[in-house]
Amino acid sequence: MAIRVSPASYAAGTPLATLPAVRRRARPSESFGCGPPVVALRIPGGARAMEDLAGRLAIVTGASSGIGEGIARALAAAGMTVLAVARRGDRLDRLVAAIAQAGGRAEAAVADVSDEAAVRAVFAGADDRHGAPFLLVNNAGVGQATPLEQVTLAAWNRIMAVNLTGAFLCAREAFVRMKAAGGGRIVSIGSISARVPRDEAIAYNASKYALEGMTRSLAIEGRAHLVTATCIHPGATRSDFAPGRTDRLEGDCLLPEHIGQLVVYAARLPRDCALLDATVIPVRVPFLARG
Ligand SMILES: NC(=O)c1ccc[n+]([C@@H]2O[C@H](COP(=O)([O-])OP(=O)(O)OC[C@H]3O[C@@H](n4cnc5c(N)ncnc54)[C@H](OP(=O)(O)O)[C@@H]3O)[C@@H](O)[C@H]2O)c1
Repeated sequence: MAIRVSPASYAAGTPLATLPAVRRRARPSESFGCGPPVVALRIPGGARAMEDLAGRLAIVTGASSGIGEGIARALAAAGMTVLAVARRGDRLDRLVAAIAQAGGRAEAAVADVSDEAAVRAVFAGADDRHGAPFLLVNNAGVGQATPLEQVTLAAWNRIMAVNLTGAFLCAREAFVRMKAAGGGRIVSIGSISARVPRDEAIAYNASKYALEGMTRSLAIEGRAHLVTATCIHPGATRSDFAPGRTDRLEGDCLLPEHIGQLVVYAARLPRDCALLDATVIPVRVPFLARG
C-alpha cells in the first residue's frame, strides 16, 4: 500500500479544505523502479472514520434522468450539496425542486460535458459559490445499438466525446481543485459492457473500457493527494437509456437508487480507503453468458 497515514484519528466531517496541507515525504526505498518515488502521506489527525458528507459539494453529470438523477437524490439525502449537470435544464430544475422539497440542497448547471468551455464554466461557477468539490460523479453517457458497418465516424466521435472525453474534462477540472483542497473523490459510471461487451455497440463498449483505464490513471496520479478514483459498472438499470432492454427485463433490473447508494458508500469511506471498482448486476439476469 503506497499511502500511509498517522495513527491518530481525526474528527469526522472536518472539511478537507480546512485541513492543513497534507505533508509528503518521499523515500528512495519506496520507489518501485518506475515513475516517481511512492510518496508517504500523513493526514493530520488520522483518517479512519467514515466521512461525514454533510455540506460538501458533489458535482453529478447526467443528473437530468435515470442513474444520475438517482445518484443526485442519494447524495442530497446524505447531506451533500449537489450540483446537477446536464443539457435539459427543465428536468434539472424539477430535480432541484424535488431535492429541496425533501429538505436537501441542490443547484442546476446546464452544460454539454463534451464542451470544454462549458465544463470549465460549470466548475468555475461552483468555485465562487461552494469552493472545491469533494465528489465528482462522471455519469453522463449515451448508448449505441448499431452494427459495425453502419457506425459512422461522426457517431463514433460523438459517443467518445460524451462518454470518455466529457469524463476526462470534468475529472481534470475536479482533480486540480481536489488536489489544492487536500483530497476528494472521482466516481465514474462505467458499465458491465466494460466487463462483457454487448454486440452492436463498438463505440460504447470501447468508451466504457477506456473509462476504466482513465479511472486507474486518476487513482495513480491522485494517491499522493488523497484524490481517489472509482469506476462503478452497473448492469441493466431502469432508465431512459435503453428502455426496450430494461423494460424487457421486467423486475430483473436495478433501480437508479441502488447505484446512488453505492456512490454514497464510495464517498463515505475513510479517506485513506478507496473503492477502486464495483460491478453491480441484477441477480437473475445472464451476465457472463448473456447474448
Ligand atoms: N441504464 C443502464 O442499464 C446502464 C447500464 C450500465 C451503465 N449505464 C450508464 O449509466 C449512465 C447513465 O445512463 P442512464 O441509464 O441513467 O441513461 P439516461 O437516463 O439516458 O441518462 C443519461 C444522462 O446523460 C446525460 N447526457 C447525455 N449526453 C450528455 C452531454 N453531452 N452532456 C451532459 N449530459 C449528457 C443526459 O442528460 P441530457 O440529455 O439532459 O443532457 C442524462 O441525464 C451512462 O453513462 C450509461 O452508460 C447505464
